[in-house]
Amino acid sequence: MTKQEVEELADRLLERMRRRPGRFTAVASLTKAMKATAEEVDNSLRFLKALGYKVRQKKGLIAFISAPDTLISTEIAYGLKTKMIGRRIYAYRSVRSTNDIAAELAQAGEPEGTIVTAEQQTKGRGRLGRSWHSPPGCGIYVSTILKPKFAPGKAPGLAIMTSVALADAVSKFCQAQVNIKWPNDILINGKKAAGILTELSAEKDKIDYVIVGVGVNVNHRADDFPAELRASATSLRLANRRKVKRVALFHQFLRNLESEYRRYCKSQLSASHAKIRRYSSLIGHPVRLSIGRKIEGGVVIDIDAAGALILEQDGQRRAVTSGEVTLVKE
Ligand code: BTN
Repeated sequence: MTKQEVEELADRLLERMRRRPGRFTAVASLTKAMKATAEEVDNSLRFLKALGYKVRQKKGLIAFISAPDTLISTEIAYGLKTKMIGRRIYAYRSVRSTNDIAAELAQAGEPEGTIVTAEQQTKGRGRLGRSWHSPPGCGIYVSTILKPKFAPGKAPGLAIMTSVALADAVSKFCQAQVNIKWPNDILINGKKAAGILTELSAEKDKIDYVIVGVGVNVNHRADDFPAELRASATSLRLANRRKVKRVALFHQFLRNLESEYRRYCKSQLSASHAKIRRYSSLIGHPVRLSIGRKIEGGVVIDIDAAGALILEQDGQRRAVTSGEVTLVKE
């Protein structure tokens, strides 16, 4: 049997066993229903067990017990209720950066909604040339290909649109306080738990594609972070004091992303504006804004429907569309 044949049969086997979780079925009847040989089924079972699936076997009977909480394509696809996002999945064990792979795929014609995930990134990238620490087995590292029909000028708001989808998903799985730090950091109890890196490829008046890269610290323990990040970073596990199901959180995020993206294509951020304001950790506070080497002060008044930060400086209001903002202690 080729590797592909083993995998295909394993998928079918899994699908059948999952119809009756915890209940025994005769292996012979599964083998017959799938028009396979006993040896082929054996190979596929071994493959599934190696991935972390748990089954119980006794006297020619088999029962499905549990699936691994890993971002492998079978688990991502299983029970995912989206129409477009995640319909095509490239799931890797270890890559340099999922954003780089997604960009190559987008250029090669992969459709909108395709996602690239990895259990680990060796060169995960963050905003402003920073790196994104991506240890194996505890986070979510995903890049989604979008090919919006709107003009390139509307692309910057996609980062906030994604922040809303992510903040909603994180809130569902975390009891602590969740905030969005403009434009695209997710904070739990004031510490960074997730980040978003959107990368645009466009011509003058047409978007080729946007890669929406998302990194979430899900089950990181304190010592999974390098020493220099420990004071400023956190994870859902650290906030909840227990592990979180990564696949379930991931499904929730993909569902939210699909609906927020639909809304954004129709009316940009106007439908999510109230939510953005509720999640914002900056509105009403004095901040320091750095754009390149320039540092300015001001008070955040609002985030407008296009996703710009409305800053008041010496009695004047201005819309800021890029830069790094830090809260100034009052
Ligand atoms: C930031 O806060 O600076 C943005 C971090 C974005 C990290 C994600 S992880 C998946 C995707 N691949 C990358 O290399 N970066 C993004």
